[in-house]
Amino acid sequence: MCGIVGCILKNNENVAPILFKCISNLEYRGYDSIGLATYDNKINVKKAKGKIKEVNDELNFENMAGKYGIAHTRWASAGRPTDENAHPHLDDTGRIAVVHNGTLENYTELKNKLIEEGRSFESSTDTEVIPHLIRKYVDEGLDLEHALRKTIEDLKGSYAIVAISQDEVGKIVATRKDSPLSLGFGKNGYYVASDSPAILEYARDVIRPKEGEIAILTEDGIVIHDEDDNGVKRKPTKITWTADMARKEGYEYFMLKEINEQPLAVKNTLGQKNNVKKIIEEIGEVKRICFVACGTSYHASITGKYLIESLAGIPCDVVIASEFKYTAKTWNEETLMVFISQSGETADSLTALRYAKETSHTLAIVNVAGSAMWEEADYVIQTQAGPEIGVAATKTYLAQLTAIYLLAGTISKNDEIIDQLNEVPKYIEEAVAKSDEIKALSKRYNFVHNAFYLGRGFSYPIALEGALKLKEITYVHAEGYAAGELKHGPLALINEDMPVIVVIPPGDDYNKTLVNLEEVKARGASVLAVGSEGNEDLKSKSKEMISINPKVPDILAPLVYTVPLQLLAYYVTVDKGFNPDQPKNLAKVITV
Ligand code: AGP
Repeated sequence: MCGIVGCILKNNENVAPILFKCISNLEYRGYDSIGLATYDNKINVKKAKGKIKEVNDELNFENMAGKYGIAHTRWASAGRPTDENAHPHLDDTGRIAVVHNGTLENYTELKNKLIEEGRSFESSTDTEVIPHLIRKYVDEGLDLEHALRKTIEDLKGSYAIVAISQDEVGKIVATRKDSPLSLGFGKNGYYVASDSPAILEYARDVIRPKEGEIAILTEDGIVIHDEDDNGVKRKPTKITWTADMARKEGYEYFMLKEINEQPLAVKNTLGQKNNVKKIIEEIGEVKRICFVACGTSYHASITGKYLIESLAGIPCDVVIASEFKYTAKTWNEETLMVFISQSGETADSLTALRYAKETSHTLAIVNVAGSAMWEEADYVIQTQAGPEIGVAATKTYLAQLTAIYLLAGTISKNDEIIDQLNEVPKYIEEAVAKSDEIKALSKRYNFVHNAFYLGRGFSYPIALEGALKLKEITYVHAEGYAAGELKHGPLALINEDMPVIVVIPPGDDYNKTLVNLEEVKARGASVLAVGSEGNEDLKSKSKEMISINPKVPDILAPLVYTVPLQLLAYYVTVDKGFNPDQPKNLAKVITV
């Protein structure tokens, strides 16, 4: 959740401007506070609560001296967002500085023990135990690397840790467990970062250290030692994303840029067709499928269930990753377990994947090459959305759906649906072109406090996703419901103050959904229908309507009808004066 960067330059320039640039690229991982520590004859630290730009205006990170250092952007878990809780954290001599991502389950116990031993704490974070433990082991005679190794033996939980010490000049040490960390080999120096997009401008050859390994960065290179202190040689992976792909390019916010990139994300992901075919050939007969995911990726999974069951007739389950542990373990070697995640790092999904690996084939549909799920699943379909910076998933969602359609089409040997997919980028483009119309419409949604989204069949997950987008970035309470389920309780909430967005493409379910639309209308709700262009009857029955090309087949509706709902959430957010890229309390990668 927090972002971490470390860098040591080969030359004698100051590292702070580079560190600041790289950590700014990671603001999507957390934006509660920011801090840098550099070494220039001694460790210097600047840190404070607030957004990166505001804090930099105050503290001017870029003028810090020193050729190496570490940086952090925080998503608060243990300890409120305050100046004291901002990273880097120091030991009580101020000679060791640490940045950390993850959560330590046993920090209270460790902290109490360290206090008993006479060490004093300045923050209420779990992280602060780390520099104190390192100090304790250094005092016992260990060098920085081995003091870090001994420290992680004491820790329970997840962590990516990067540390420097004033007593071992010219060295950065790093390690990880259940939290991402990449080592980067650049022309000007060596890098460590929680996400490789942070360092793309400087280093695109990366290695992900394995759990328990310790990386030592110096101006001469990066050395990795395994748990037994043996040197580890591993070939770096080349990241194909470029730094330009992660820039706003004239858009006010990343989210709008990413919505506009959706036709390309889908088109590029269609290029995975042969890979999907190869994977299914290798796996052989699939008797059952289970999708596991969180949030938006979970909504993609529901579409996957409906598709696979209807096209291939294979029984399919969908499980929220954090609930996976509580489900009956009925899967076996004939079950294909599919894990969907844009980041490939989501802790709940990763834990479930590791568990499922013991019995079943595992397939990960992920967007980030080199991510934990990308590395650990038996098979991978990499969605080709490129870097997504906005916290709200948009283009990665449509890319996930594309991969799911390829999977369902391949398993069911339904070439027709795979052919139909080629038309989808054009339909998405048309939907994105409704931007101005939706912007105008959004003004009427600025003052609402609640909203319902309804859909049936393939439109049900669209309704869920539309509601999630609205609540996530506008902070308006929104519910996505299966249209037929409304009368079993929530209909009681419908009145003149409740806007209801009805996703109603033409097709077999149209008439049934229309009945539901009339039901809410009869209770006074103002209805916004997302339906097929030219449907005058629907238009007359709704207060507002967003029209989609009538040629979009019902079965492909999730790939197109989702777009206006993303745009609606986006424009309401911007009108309210909120930043859609950085919704409060959230972060792009949920590693806890
Ligand atoms: C979507 O807008 C959210 N940011 C969130 O629900 C996200 O989809 C979820 O946290 C899962 O993330 P993942 O795809 O990286 O696993």
